[in-house]
Amino acid sequence: MRYSEMVNRVGGMGDDAWEIHRRAWEKEAAGESVIILSAGEERAATTPPAIVEAAKQALDAGRHHYSPLTGSPALKAAVAARHFKLTGQTVSPESCCIMAGAQNALYSTLLCLADAGDEIIVPDPYYATYPGVCRAGGASMVTVPCDPEADFVVDPQKIAAAITSKTRVILLNSPNNPTGAIYPKAVLEAIAELAKKHDLWVISDEVYADFVYDSPHIAIGSLPGMAERTVTIGSMSKAYRMSGWRVGWLVSNPTLSAIISDLATCMLYGIAPFVQDAALAALTDETGEIEADRVNMLADYRTRRDLVCEHLSNVPGLVLRHPAAGMFVMVDVRGTGLDDFTFAARLLDEENVGVMTGAAFGPSAEGHIRLGLVAKQEVLADACTRIRRFALSLG
Ligand SMILES: Cc1ncc(COP(=O)(O)O)c(C=O)c1O
Repeated sequence: MRYSEMVNRVGGMGDDAWEIHRRAWEKEAAGESVIILSAGEERAATTPPAIVEAAKQALDAGRHHYSPLTGSPALKAAVAARHFKLTGQTVSPESCCIMAGAQNALYSTLLCLADAGDEIIVPDPYYATYPGVCRAGGASMVTVPCDPEADFVVDPQKIAAAITSKTRVILLNSPNNPTGAIYPKAVLEAIAELAKKHDLWVISDEVYADFVYDSPHIAIGSLPGMAERTVTIGSMSKAYRMSGWRVGWLVSNPTLSAIISDLATCMLYGIAPFVQDAALAALTDETGEIEADRVNMLADYRTRRDLVCEHLSNVPGLVLRHPAAGMFVMVDVRGTGLDDFTFAARLLDEENVGVMTGAAFGPSAEGHIRLGLVAKQEVLADACTRIRRFALSLG
């Protein structure tokens, strides 16, 4: 039987990249003690109890039915309020669409902004799903390399050079996964000028906006003249440890919301209402308990970042790329004489530490491994000891 062309555009991506991750899980399932730092979440940490309780109450209250296609009005209002708090940009609840995670919001947005044959500019390194998301609808992803020596911050001049008559969208991710880069205001301003000059959309994936350590989060949508051409993507997954609940959103304008609603009619048909109620409880947080948990978690991530940076900054053969934000640390392993895949594979075999290979995130990340800060401090310290020992064994 035949399948559509789209299957080739979304399939087979990053198979090698995920191999180490898969092998780490297999080892763990076989009973070995593996430290898995390849994931984008802390598996030992669950959703805050007050959020879980809100979902239970919603289930008991009969919130079992179809819900408004792009989210309940109350949750949209809460997302608009969160967006204002994070970005300083005032948006109406009608400008917000609740989707099945940031991933679904990204996919839906790109499907509505780019046609087959259009080009989407993406700084490289990029989040591993971006190639599939860009290509699914037939558009192509045009990458702009970011220099590791410049902390992986994108150079707007390189974006300018990549713009053609087919460019429709610039897809940004600051704070960035995998690099932890925050794009400085001047960089965002320069990109904003390009978007306005060439009449382009900007999609700004800001799922790590809470996880900033060295400088504040800046939303490109809040810059002058950018609200009308920016779609900001957000999520409950990271800041509220709700990855499995699948709640994210896009914030843009009521026109795009209506378009997304049409798409949602045939593709999603709304998010489970009890899940939306739980997200609403998290964002409105009447007792302050959830906010306290979030603040503690973010402080802990900062300490984890500092701990890993301290442990791995002076290891022969390794160059640590200090992340200004996010949940990950990139380490350049080329000085050990190994490529990132071999380093990661042997690290797993010899020291039982699972990390992602940089290649999963684009050519500019090659030669690096990505460590998730997704374990308790003592576990991360143990992982760093093992990484150091392994790197020294290569010397
Ligand atoms: C940069 C980035 N965007 C989007 C997502 C997807 O988030 P969600 O769980 O809300 O779909 C992730 C998840 O790791 C991510 O790292």
